[in-house]
Amino acid sequence: MPKLPISYEDSLMRADLGATERVSPPDLHEAHKAVLNLHKSGVQGWLNILDDQGYLKSIEEAAKKFSKFKNCLVLGIGGSDLGARAIYSAIKPEKTKLWFSGDTTDPEEVLKVLDAIPWDKTCVNVISKSGKTLETMAAFFEARQRLEKKVGAKKVAERIICTTDPEDGDLRELAIKKGYSILEIPKNIGGRFSVLTAVGLFPLALAGINVRNLLKGAVMMRNDWMEEHGAAHFIDRFAAWQVAHETRKKRNIHVLFAYSGCLYSFSNWWRQLWAESLGKATRRNGQKNFYGPTPVVSVGPTDQHSQLQLYQEGPDDKIYTFLTVQAHDAKLKVPSNAKSFVPMAETAGKKFKDLLAAEANGTFEALADAKRPIGRIVLEKVDEVSLGALIIFYELATAMAGELYEINAFDQPGVEAGKVRTRRLLTLQQGFRVTPSEPRG
Ligand code: PA5
Repeated sequence: MPKLPISYEDSLMRADLGATERVSPPDLHEAHKAVLNLHKSGVQGWLNILDDQGYLKSIEEAAKKFSKFKNCLVLGIGGSDLGARAIYSAIKPEKTKLWFSGDTTDPEEVLKVLDAIPWDKTCVNVISKSGKTLETMAAFFEARQRLEKKVGAKKVAERIICTTDPEDGDLRELAIKKGYSILEIPKNIGGRFSVLTAVGLFPLALAGINVRNLLKGAVMMRNDWMEEHGAAHFIDRFAAWQVAHETRKKRNIHVLFAYSGCLYSFSNWWRQLWAESLGKATRRNGQKNFYGPTPVVSVGPTDQHSQLQLYQEGPDDKIYTFLTVQAHDAKLKVPSNAKSFVPMAETAGKKFKDLLAAEANGTFEALADAKRPIGRIVLEKVDEVSLGALIIFYELATAMAGELYEINAFDQPGVEAGKVRTRRLLTLQQGFRVTPSEPRG
């Protein structure tokens, strides 16, 4: 088995969970089997898609076709947005420049991006599985209009590629009617689990990310998890700790403390995955669900001077995962002439990456001293292989946590409810399709 590019250390996770207490409600092994079965049965597809060479080829071919454009506007929201953004901002590739929008209707935010784009050198990738999401489609029609103005109506179709459902949806229909290119999101892969489908892989490949290495890391992590280990796999243990601290000790705030600014967007991807998957009203047996962790993102060392006071001395209602990076390429050092400045005497001449490691370790130890439950994920370095593995780590942990909470981690009825109400309000405001019986808000 090849050495994994990430590791998980949980010796301080037990905290005050009794030594004899099992860390998970149903047996961890059963939950592992249940998640495995979701994939073997084809109900979920985000592990199997990693091996689909034909699918990967279709994405790479599309990326090649669109590589003549120096810029790509990527439009999407939630699961159709956060994954590509996360990897792009962690790796900072240098081929096609990606611009992200379609995740807001805040006019200033939309204009900030659309006004800055050089439209004559730009293509558009609009991503929506349902094919009708308001924020994304509103931005798309504005973007298309700008493209038309710049390059002429006839040349627009060759600059638009839609990533959407393989069979249904208004976006798919529009793409077929107008002759736009289409990439498919497999039916059995939901938005927040779709970063390693065309949703993430197409824009990332276009930008110059090595998507084969991303998949390599993902496959390594998946295969390691699928191996029959005598003891529970560390991903299963990770999920079990999160669930146990909430259900046994009411620690329902899950903090991801990332010690690298370039992992901030990644943390936001995790935040959506965790929140949208695990915040559910009912359990699978139909009973009311009383649990649901609140994910919180912190970035070190910045947030040592923001949230750490609360973490250290505030209510004991949180658990912590540190995400640290072993190797940094940048060679920056504190100049040695800082020695004459007394507060810097010990630090002068040291590498910034060593300061960063000392700050992460110091904070970790202080929280451990305060008896906070705390674990650590270590990435060898920030590259495609590590990030691919980290994505699968969290997707599997989410699926496992769903099993342990006994909820469906793969639907999002709460999000849908908000979408339906927004559409109704917009319809009411515009004064059409209003009937006297229709509620006013
Ligand atoms: O994870 C999810 O399912 C959601 O966050 C969706 O990705 C998000 O609502 C966007 O949906 P769509 O891809 O249909 O535009």
